[in-house]
Amino acid sequence: MFQHKDDTVLEALQRRGVTRRDFIKMSILLAGALGLDYKRVGAVTHALETAKRAPVIWLEFQDCAGCTESISRSQNPTLEKLVLNDITIEYHETLMAAAGYQAEEAKQAAMETYKGQYILVVEGSIPLANGGYCTIGGRAADDILREAAANAFAVVAVGNCASFGGIPRANPNPTDAYGVMELVTDKPVINIPGCPAIPEAMTNTIANILVLGSIPELDALNRPKLFYAQTVHDRCLRRGFYDAGLFADSFGDDGYQNGYCLYKLGCKGPTTYNTCASLKWNEGTSWPVEAGHPCLGCSEPNFWDGGGFYQGASAPLQKPDLVTVGGAALVGAVVAGGVAGLNSAAKKRAAKSEKAEQPSDKEA
Ligand code: SF4
Ligand code: F3S
Repeated sequence: MFQHKDDTVLEALQRRGVTRRDFIKMSILLAGALGLDYKRVGAVTHALETAKRAPVIWLEFQDCAGCTESISRSQNPTLEKLVLNDITIEYHETLMAAAGYQAEEAKQAAMETYKGQYILVVEGSIPLANGGYCTIGGRAADDILREAAANAFAVVAVGNCASFGGIPRANPNPTDAYGVMELVTDKPVINIPGCPAIPEAMTNTIANILVLGSIPELDALNRPKLFYAQTVHDRCLRRGFYDAGLFADSFGDDGYQNGYCLYKLGCKGPTTYNTCASLKWNEGTSWPVEAGHPCLGCSEPNFWDGGGFYQGASAPLQKPDLVTVGGAALVGAVVAGGVAGLNSAAKKRAAKSEKAEQPSDKEA
């Protein structure tokens, strides 16, 4: 938009008014974010001074814009600013000021100008049913995706929906939703799954391509190992209780209030690879298991059908048991005050009313 085609990253930053002093700070920050030794700050600085700016085109399909929301709440505002504002974004439907024909023309111009250089970020799943779900400018989502991917340097699928189909793909999958890597097979596709994706995993991956010009090391599901090599269970703060065999049996029971392991409540932490237990959310404030909610496996394929204790909307209602009634109690508490806002008085009230309402559970 305000950049020149052949700008290096440094020149692009200077056009934005970034001083040399701030540029050096950014280099140090980036080296840290990329997990590089401080001795390699000079190499990062050199790369930013000489590497061509690699712009981002960010497409949204069947999504809730939660990953965009997540990245704009990055724990590291300088890195987020660098990635989102100073260097990269050429087209982003939620964040850009332009709309309609003007926006579509800007995208076409960016794809032409930066042919083979741009990073395509995709948020949301791609529907193939009916040829008409999720059209933009009169064109189907998969057509738009294939066109933009054709001349991209690499494709980054953010969130579970773009990675594996996500919630739109849940049974009965009315739109025949797909993840990007099932449709784009001739380009490197990097998955940053999660619901939403963790902001640092998104910014770091984009910065990695931008600065080092390379694709980070990936696992078998195309996820960067830096963020997805360990399970949630590996880093969980309740792990000691798991190892000691201490579990919550229902939401609000004594074990729950004592912070015991949530495995018996459907926690998918042992089979879910993500970094939320380490990086957390909202500037390191908390994460689902810390807030009292079992992991749903939001960074794995088959989320949501395979995740935790929730039932699909199409499933017949089952006879209540401790888990589903407890889940309903928790959902009510979430709506009332937010998971993180559960205080001990509320938990005691929930436990009391649960006991009062479920005399037959133990008998069942
Ligand atoms: Fe593992 Fe879940 Fe228990 Fe944490 S709460 S220790 S992730 S099973
Ligand atoms: Fe997702 Fe489980 Fe973490 S639901 S945010 S991977 S705790």
